Amino acid sequence: MLRRMAILKIARLGHPVLYRRAEPIDDPTAPELRRLVADMIETLEDAGGVGLAAPQVHVPLRIFLYRVPEQRASHGEAARPLSVVINPEVVERSAETESDWEGCLSIPGFSALVERPAQIALRGVDGAGKRFTRRAAGFHARVIQHEADHLDGILYPDRLTDPRAMGFTEEMGRYGDDIAASLRRRGPESAAAGATRSGGMQDD
Ligand code: NI
Repeated sequence: MLRRMAILKIARLGHPVLYRRAEPIDDPTAPELRRLVADMIETLEDAGGVGLAAPQVHVPLRIFLYRVPEQRASHGEAARPLSVVINPEVVERSAETESDWEGCLSIPGFSALVERPAQIALRGVDGAGKRFTRRAAGFHARVIQHEADHLDGILYPDRLTDPRAMGFTEEMGRYGDDIAASLRRRGPESAAAGATRSGGMQDD
């Protein structure tokens, strides 16, 4: 039997599904959920992103996918293949924060400097229905927090380090370092303090 998968349409900034709190998943092993995961994987691969949350494909459920590409792994962590996270809870957040560049498949063409806790602990259920707790740092912690925010109706413009540190990816690639440096000089205290350019900007 031919297995049919589909590339799903991605909701863009302004669509109400992105601002709604997503619903918990009762049965992480339900066949419909497996189909959704397969379609989300195909959609993410097609879009070339590093993360995708269900509300971004117009499904208001608490599930997201993410991966950590080799060139983004930091803080002594290894790259991570694609993970499925169901009913996630960020249960710990470090006081220490970092600013780094983020993109989002729902905000195509744009990048921004976003300040987030540098380390977190994530609790959730994996694609096989097993509960897990996972610690994450650096980009790994960032992508998890970005995707978990999607499930609470939060997009990265709500968390900008500074409104001036958002622009077209092309322009930020050219001028982002200067913008981060000028924010650092001007303060406030932690703005862009830990800004690093660990790799190309990627869409989460
Ligand atoms: Ni996103």
